[in-house]
Amino acid sequence: MHFLSGPPPYDLTYDDVFLVPRPTEVTSRFDVDLASADGTGTTIPIVVANMTAVAGRRMAETIARRGGIVILPQDLPIGAVADTVAFVKSRDLVADTPVTLGPDDSVSDASALMHKRSHGAVVIVADGRPIGLATAADCADVDRFTRLSAVLTTEMLTVALSTPPRAVFELLDAAHARLAVLTVDGVLAGVLTRVGAVRAGIYRPAVDAAGRLRIAAAVGINGDVPAKAKALVDAGVDVLVVDTAHGHQAKMAEALAAVRALDLGVPLVAGNVVTAAGTRDLLAAGADIVKVGVGPGAMCTTRMMTGVGRPQFSAVAECAEAAREAGGHVWADGGIRHPRDVALALAAGADNVMIGSWFAGTYESPGDLRFDQNGNPYKESFGMASKRAVAARTAADSSYDRARKSLFEEGISSSRMQLDPDRPGVEDLLDHICSGVRSACTYAGARNLAQLHERALIGVQSAAGFAEGRPLPGGW
Ligand code: XMP
Repeated sequence: MHFLSGPPPYDLTYDDVFLVPRPTEVTSRFDVDLASADGTGTTIPIVVANMTAVAGRRMAETIARRGGIVILPQDLPIGAVADTVAFVKSRDLVADTPVTLGPDDSVSDASALMHKRSHGAVVIVADGRPIGLATAADCADVDRFTRLSAVLTTEMLTVALSTPPRAVFELLDAAHARLAVLTVDGVLAGVLTRVGAVRAGIYRPAVDAAGRLRIAAAVGINGDVPAKAKALVDAGVDVLVVDTAHGHQAKMAEALAAVRALDLGVPLVAGNVVTAAGTRDLLAAGADIVKVGVGPGAMCTTRMMTGVGRPQFSAVAECAEAAREAGGHVWADGGIRHPRDVALALAAGADNVMIGSWFAGTYESPGDLRFDQNGNPYKESFGMASKRAVAARTAADSSYDRARKSLFEEGISSSRMQLDPDRPGVEDLLDHICSGVRSACTYAGARNLAQLHERALIGVQSAAGFAEGRPLPGGW
């Protein structure tokens, strides 16, 4: 990465900078390979942050199927991590996992579960076999105690799980249907929408050596960190993240060195830092990848509480350069609000880009779907250093200790993340992001992320320059 007019005199964040178009021979977005080189196996450069409001099993399955990876939060008990890992690793690489109910369940049950996934229907099963679909429209104007047997649609396209996605698309097209039910020997095995069939031809799942979807998990720096790390890897996680707000500290280096000594055979990520010195120290202590970001997160109050942090573009650029010199990698963590921010984080040298709150406002996040006074759907996000997260994390402490710890918060406890009416599912956001990043690579003349790191030419802009790039009216 180079600056158009020399290195700037102060630190910058994403809104301050832009990519300058370069002569290119890369003319198609489909010629761009977005796979990372950091050993995590991602085929798109997206990592979902270890936040309770964002990273659960549905998110993990959906993101890995498209080539990214989800980090399960460090607050989860090991048994819950093991269950989620087993669930994700048992998922099909093409078919989505449907929401299922029986014919004697009610419309109320269906309405409560419908939005847990983005395909807009519940599959009604009897003895494991699909007998019909209940869509939102089927459930709209009936008494909520009505049995699903009374509203289900038996007209559905049922095909074998082994049918190639393109053939499923063509069958759906011919039938003017949105969703196919996939079976093995008549037993429900998944569902595939038209857009899901198209995505299967564009994205490559992030898979482990056995061809199963990948998943990551985080551990903090307190307690017996090596034992927790080993338990997570024994449970099947593919990437381990040692995480604390201020990663450049002796306790982190000790924890990291102890985990590295176990030689667990998975990439080790550590953070967070924002300086070259911090990056070098974490790599020296045993990290393969360093997580960069102090205070850019949407739920963070660190900068306002402490004055500590660093604008994210400069932090990523400096840490990425230091990591490259030491043979390591960085992830850009926090502050992503638009596809352009992902492109710029990659241009600054990140191998993967972490996203938290933006993805909280999707069907696949763990929170309950709620509606505001205008009827707009939203889900709640909250920071992992907020009073709410601290209360959950310290539930086993004495009430005095809990009260004491609750006084020290550096995060927002509740924020409404609206679902974008055009992109309510996380895959819609992935399409949006990957389309922007692929296009950015064609403008930069880069066929892959390594070439983007090399060739990116960065300009610095005024607030008016940034405003000029926003489409009218409003939005964005
Ligand atoms: P976004 O902007 O995607 O950022 O939501 C995700 C990252 O934000 C960090 N994070 C926090 N930082 N207090 C903080 O100072 C918090 O309560 C908090 N919660 C999350 C974290 O690095 C995450 O990956």
